[in-house]
Amino acid sequence: MSAAAPETAAPVTTATFRAKKAAAEPIVMITAYDTPGARLVDAAGVDSILVGDSVGMTVLGYPTTLPVTMEDMLHHTAAVARGASRALVVADMPFMSYQVTAEEALRNAGRFLAEAGAHAVKLEGGRVVAPLVRRMVDAGIPVMGHVGLTPQSLHVFGGYRVQARESEGALALLTDCLALERAGAFAIVLELVPAEVAEFVSAQLAIPTIGIGAGPGCDGQVQVYHDLLGMGDFAPKHATRYAELGEAIRAAVASYAADVRSRTAPAERHFTHAEEGVIEELRASASLARAAVTGLEEE
Ligand code: KIV
Repeated sequence: MSAAAPETAAPVTTATFRAKKAAAEPIVMITAYDTPGARLVDAAGVDSILVGDSVGMTVLGYPTTLPVTMEDMLHHTAAVARGASRALVVADMPFMSYQVTAEEALRNAGRFLAEAGAHAVKLEGGRVVAPLVRRMVDAGIPVMGHVGLTPQSLHVFGGYRVQARESEGALALLTDCLALERAGAFAIVLELVPAEVAEFVSAQLAIPTIGIGAGPGCDGQVQVYHDLLGMGDFAPKHATRYAELGEAIRAAVASYAADVRSRTAPAERHFTHAEEGVIEELRASASLARAAVTGLEEE
């Protein structure tokens, strides 16, 4: 079912992304939000880890990505960076961290690399953010674009809908991608775009496209950790559930609860015994502990 992970342990860089596109080798990206998750996906051989603002829904219990803050993203990015040794770590810039002023956007983007250990940032938008992308790249910050369905604009779109269905939308998408490429973006996420449009756009670009719900014609694929592992309530059409970890966790915790309630846990192997005589001495001197506590209360 799955091809083997790459044998090379060399860290993945933005140059690796370009080389993989040139060699027509698919780029594998997945989200992660904490150190154990990052360790696991890194060990599985993914090329890149996205610390997505999807953390808002997958981990923080929000209904959308909109409430996620810079502090949330820095916290989760730093945790992921501590767990990743080979994969390229990309941090999502949250809503309103790059839309207000270019200076604020630049400072926020820099914090992901300088404070949290990310290798690159991702931000949503096409032509409108291209000048900002240029400034970030000029400042030494690699940028991944994100077009198509951009979840931070959910209320502008009026729902999570496939984008660029008509030729006008497809042309706008292509123009956005070309503007991002020209501005120096090293890759672009295409989310919920018809497969033929994504394939056409990918062929027009020298930088790789990373698809989610955008078909096999993209240069790589990204998926949300919880969707692939069966840990979310929602099963998007574009994700295969490769495991049912949610059900496995529920069943494991239910077994633990049953063992505690039936006094099967802890078992003999889970604890140590006191040395001989310790309990007798403790019984004889327990009144000293009571007197000490009473003395503390009187002070
Ligand atoms: O936040 C996220 O997980 C994303 C992916 C869906 C691309 O932006």
